[in-house]
Amino acid sequence: MNHFLDIHKTDASDLRAIIDQARAMKDRRGGLPRGTPDADQPLAGRMVALIFEKPSTRTRVSFDMGVRQMGGQTMVLSGSDMQLGHGETIADTARVLSRYVDLIMIRTFDESVLTEMAEFASVPVINGLTDRSHPCQIMADILTYEEHRGPIRGKKVVWCGDGNNVCASFLHAAGRFGFDLTFTGPVQLDPEMEFVGLARNEGATVTIERDPFKAVEGADLIVTDTWVSMHDAQSSRERRHNMLRPYQVNRALMEAAKPDALFMHCLPAHREEEVTSEIMDGPASVVFDEAENRLHAQKAVMRWCLGV
Ligand code: CP
Ligand code: NVA
Repeated sequence: MNHFLDIHKTDASDLRAIIDQARAMKDRRGGLPRGTPDADQPLAGRMVALIFEKPSTRTRVSFDMGVRQMGGQTMVLSGSDMQLGHGETIADTARVLSRYVDLIMIRTFDESVLTEMAEFASVPVINGLTDRSHPCQIMADILTYEEHRGPIRGKKVVWCGDGNNVCASFLHAAGRFGFDLTFTGPVQLDPEMEFVGLARNEGATVTIERDPFKAVEGADLIVTDTWVSMHDAQSSRERRHNMLRPYQVNRALMEAAKPDALFMHCLPAHREEEVTSEIMDGPASVVFDEAENRLHAQKAVMRWCLGV
């Protein structure tokens, strides 16, 4: 069964096919009004459960719209309203949901919830973000990069700030898509070394550079994310801000990269914290294209999961 749990757990050829299909589907739609159904209706008759144990704007709306455009139906469920949040096991929840729906997308805290859901579900499961990774976001980001600049293979991507769940999925993608990744951030917030090793084993050059200005030299793409993720304790906020302030993406930092370097952020952004408004709204920024491409990339992910 085709679960979409993580980029490094998916074959490189399948990942490439998903990106290419996303782009083709997006092109086919052209400028149709958002609510207009796709001509081919590949999800006709299918029901998709979208489960959220954390807040979401983009993931919620883009999955819901994507299913509707492809002719399927959705039910959006909040984890706390389900028995899942009141002691029913993940395994039993997975078995039950599999009797009602054709596909499950879940956003949760601990990765084990996702993996247990996938183990016991008899329908495909998609990772809509865990504390540890966010693969759908990076599929959208690769689609976005390639729309603007061509193949990402061989390019230099620089991650600035917290080595968090989104950074982890970039590391997973570096090996699979063949780009180089430089992490720049404080040692306390380094990405998981297991993921660094994984990318290196697949042939990607992964560099850790504490000096953000050195890190961005020759960069084709600069990426950052919030300094305090949904799974981080609010009590760590001040400490994190103090550690991360030197890694803010601002004009001086962007000017130290290649002249045509792009800027990405998965959003939601905290303006004047991890990135200045000048960069968010400036010519290098493709943040709203990334947000739009969540829709197109995930439509292709869902088709791959269902084999339609
Ligand atoms: N980027 C992203 O996943 O956004 P949401 O938290 O709004 O879904
Ligand atoms: N790292 C962020 C990403 C939000 C889309 C978080 O997990 O809160």
